[in-house]
Amino acid sequence: MGAARVALADLSAEGLRETAHLIEAGGGETLVLICDVTSEEDVQAAVDRTIARFGSLDAASNNAGVEQPVQPAADTAKDDWDRILGVSLTGAFLCTRAQIRQMLQQDGGGAIVNVSSGAGVKGFMGFMGFKVQAAYAAAKHGITGFTRSAALDHAAQGIRVNAVCPGIIDTEMTRRFGDTCPGGREGLVADEPVGRLGEPEEIASSVLWLCSTDAAFTTRTALVVDGGQTV
Ligand SMILES: NC(=O)c1ccc[n+]([C@@H]2O[C@H](COP(=O)([O-])OP(=O)(O)OC[C@H]3O[C@@H](n4cnc5c(N)ncnc54)[C@H](O)[C@@H]3O)[C@@H](O)[C@H]2O)c1
Repeated sequence: MGAARVALADLSAEGLRETAHLIEAGGGETLVLICDVTSEEDVQAAVDRTIARFGSLDAASNNAGVEQPVQPAADTAKDDWDRILGVSLTGAFLCTRAQIRQMLQQDGGGAIVNVSSGAGVKGFMGFMGFKVQAAYAAAKHGITGFTRSAALDHAAQGIRVNAVCPGIIDTEMTRRFGDTCPGGREGLVADEPVGRLGEPEEIASSVLWLCSTDAAFTTRTALVVDGGQTV
């Protein structure tokens, strides 16, 4: 397999540069793009600049998301609802749409992986346990549903669209969210049947597999990678 050529897009350049260095240290080539996934123009420009640099888009993963302040459905502010669905769900839609449009112009199709969540598979009960996240769950269920439909729409055109549904992963989001939970990080760990949080690399490897030819017969799936948590 040749060296990876990866376009990295985010609102902020900070994490992008670190990821770019890691890929380049492994012999890959990178393109760093600032992009707000809620903006049609930004998303289209990201795809256009990727094509201008690398010539084709073979695989894409749409990962941008924001957590919800801990609150029950009755206390969810419309601003929070709009922001959470805007980034997670509308962002996944805009990115997937632009990526499919590009892949349709290429020979050989492509693969897209949208990052949903355990909260895209089931709702979480328990206000005092601070797991009630109606807007986040709506956005992530939306991603799962959109992914399944888009996959069927474009299956015959050689484009595979899948989702991964992570459990609780040790990221900045979880560090912020864990701070607001009554049980803190220990409470989150206790929620994981395997007794630990997941590592970002354990989600990345699932995304990579779904993008690879090993997964050539896999489309419209929502792959749960959660250490058993969503049970
Ligand atoms: N951490 C977890 O336990 C967990 C579990 C399930 C699903 N997820 C999902 O995984 C994805 C990544 O989460 P994470 O834990 O790495 O979160 P994170 O907060 O650490 O990273 C999220 C990234 O999204 C970017 N982003 C936010 N708004 C954006 C926008 N409008 N345009 C472009 N980029 C934007 C942020 O700059 C940040 O780099 C999210 O979709 C999240 O909902 C996370």
